[in-house]
Amino acid sequence: MLTMLLAMCLAGCGRQEDTQKAVDGQDGAKDLSGGPAEEKEIPFFWDIHTTQELIPGDFLVYHVDCAGTEADQLGLYQSSADQEYGADKATGKMWGYQPRDYMEAVADASGEGAMSSRWEIREGTEYDGEETGFYYDFELPSGEYEVTVGFYNPFSARTVCVDLEGSCEVDALKILKYKLTEAVATTRVTDGSLQVKVYNPDRGTDAMKDPVLSYITIRAVPVYDSVLLQQYLEQMEVPPEEAGIYTASTCQIYQEKRKEALKLAEGEGKPEEYRKACEELKEAYEELEEIKVYTTFQVGKRWTDDEGNLIQAHGGQVQKLPVRDKSTGEMVEKWWWVGEDKSAGYRGGIRAYSSDDLYNWHSEGIVMRNVDSREQLEKEAYFQELYGDYTEEQLDNVYASLSSQTAVIERPKMLYNEKTDMYVIWFHADGPTAYSDSNYAAASAGVAVSKNPNGPFRFIDRYRLNTCPEDQEDFYPQSKGMARDMNLFVDEDGTAYIIYSSEENLTLYISKLNEEYTYLATDPEKAVYGEDFIRLFPGAQREAPALFFRDGSYYLLTSGCTGWAPNQARYYRAESVLGDWVNCGDPCVGDDKRTTFDSQSTCVFLADEENGTYLYMGDRWNSEDLTNSRYIWLPVEFDEEGAMYLRYQEEWSLEALTP
Ligand code: DGJ
Repeated sequence: MLTMLLAMCLAGCGRQEDTQKAVDGQDGAKDLSGGPAEEKEIPFFWDIHTTQELIPGDFLVYHVDCAGTEADQLGLYQSSADQEYGADKATGKMWGYQPRDYMEAVADASGEGAMSSRWEIREGTEYDGEETGFYYDFELPSGEYEVTVGFYNPFSARTVCVDLEGSCEVDALKILKYKLTEAVATTRVTDGSLQVKVYNPDRGTDAMKDPVLSYITIRAVPVYDSVLLQQYLEQMEVPPEEAGIYTASTCQIYQEKRKEALKLAEGEGKPEEYRKACEELKEAYEELEEIKVYTTFQVGKRWTDDEGNLIQAHGGQVQKLPVRDKSTGEMVEKWWWVGEDKSAGYRGGIRAYSSDDLYNWHSEGIVMRNVDSREQLEKEAYFQELYGDYTEEQLDNVYASLSSQTAVIERPKMLYNEKTDMYVIWFHADGPTAYSDSNYAAASAGVAVSKNPNGPFRFIDRYRLNTCPEDQEDFYPQSKGMARDMNLFVDEDGTAYIIYSSEENLTLYISKLNEEYTYLATDPEKAVYGEDFIRLFPGAQREAPALFFRDGSYYLLTSGCTGWAPNQARYYRAESVLGDWVNCGDPCVGDDKRTTFDSQSTCVFLADEENGTYLYMGDRWNSEDLTNSRYIWLPVEFDEEGAMYLRYQEEWSLEALTP
């Protein structure tokens, strides 16, 4: 791309320069032959420069960061942020401020870039309304220039005037406290230099009305026409083979702007339309964002998929799944991540991603969609195909359970059932009921099935699950069989279990699933305690369960219940799923805040079979902006006794872990 741009710059363009002279109304030849001797020597800007050369820098000739020392942007004729009037060290051009005793350079940490410094009038200055101010001179070839003067005023509101070439171009401009205000004017330079004066003639004796000055920008004004737009199109071209390296969203904006620009370049437009098209195309081109390829886990950082979109799979689960390859039709193994799609905030459907290396993920789309209205459920083809044979009562249930306005769909987990060759998703299905408006009133477990792991998943039902046996203390007898934060686990013998918070999140349960994984193994009325289900740690108030098996031991990692706020993790061990679970405490090492490194567990899985590496998946919820919740993935360590440890690392890779 850079090579292409350089080639463009070197190519030059005679036609555009001719146009510039014609528009300027005083072509180079007239300048050189007509006036006094010294004027003759002043060249015309477009005789020296080409538009191609200046497009990349937006025709910027000077950008003075007043009283600044570090420039974030430099114009063509300068090599420093600001200077006292004199020859520029690199370009030899004469430019800078005319020093005055009353000028005070002030740095401002609250402003960025050119707003981080400014000139002020020193306290106690004897102010002369017409004279006191800031004076700059800039050597410039003859031509037309657009001058922008920026004011970032930390004081009470006041007014300022800007003179260009001795004539007042901006009069009594109000500059408000800590609001960046710009004055923009166009002027013609014919004598080889441009004078800029900033002052406040109305200051009187009130020092609270002293002018300030943050920056001055001078741009050569080109002729905005179809030829110039064509040059922009050439310089801002993305070769087809490079298009795939950019994120879909930025690429789309770029393509739209390019299409608009192409249309205008072929037709007829006004100069302001050409200018707008040139600027918008350049902006879209500069905003093109390259898709990131990951080779490490960057813990808690923005994580994007292979199209550059933020990964949306919160409260999720990762596993290795047999899936059919889209191009070959062969069954292949893929890493599969399902989770809550929170792109629209709190409510949303279930999304899946696939990967070959656990670092880079491809979105498989929304595998179970929300529904916007009862009508949509009955009319839209997508829902018709899934629910065309459902009764009215079943449709009511689908609507209540998947409504984009009221349903709460959290912590989805997926299993592949070999017997039925179906993929089954269980999720925390919640929302208001006929008796309560609370988002967490339904407190039930939802089930959906599909022939493909990328859906669409057909919602079957949502259920209340097992209840506290009569001979045990129920911590929430007023609402039986509740099921909220949940997870799934398949044992070595193929038996699947659902692990979930019940009894108003006070007690965890583990319940056996049927052979199809679509419901409990035994109906709650007939379920036998210890065989079909168990209650864990009654009253301990644990949620976010993540159950896994390693080296003869079952582990259950959990969090406390503090809404979206993180809290201290605790894990348990047992010799069988429905056996006795022993509290082993917090696995985190060096977690001074005792917040599981600011995360909440959602899954632990075997990420590297060869080296026996288990990976902790946690959510760092952002309660103010759930879309921007982050993922905390860490390697899990075990000692010789099988005790589990979590240590924080900002960035890590499976490859770099020592086995
Ligand atoms: C904690 C749970 O673990 C999350 O899934 C979610 O339900 C939040 N509570 C809501 O506050």
